Amino acid sequence: MTDDYRRVVLTRDGPALIQGPVELVTDDGTVVRSDRFVVALCQCRRSKTFPLCDTSHRKRRREA
Ligand code: FES
Repeated sequence: MTDDYRRVVLTRDGPALIQGPVELVTDDGTVVRSDRFVVALCQCRRSKTFPLCDTSHRKRRREA
């Protein structure tokens, strides 16, 4: 991988992991910044800190 590409890793039944720092814009225009080395983005919409993952996805798994 070169520095020109930012890697996003999609996990099954969990967050998308993206290399930080990142600036996120939600569908209502809210801007969220994170300086973490790896940022976990919520894909399940259950997070109380959406768009960031708060591990709420662990409480209930999707049905197969
Ligand atoms: S993916 Fe972790 S709370 Fe949604």
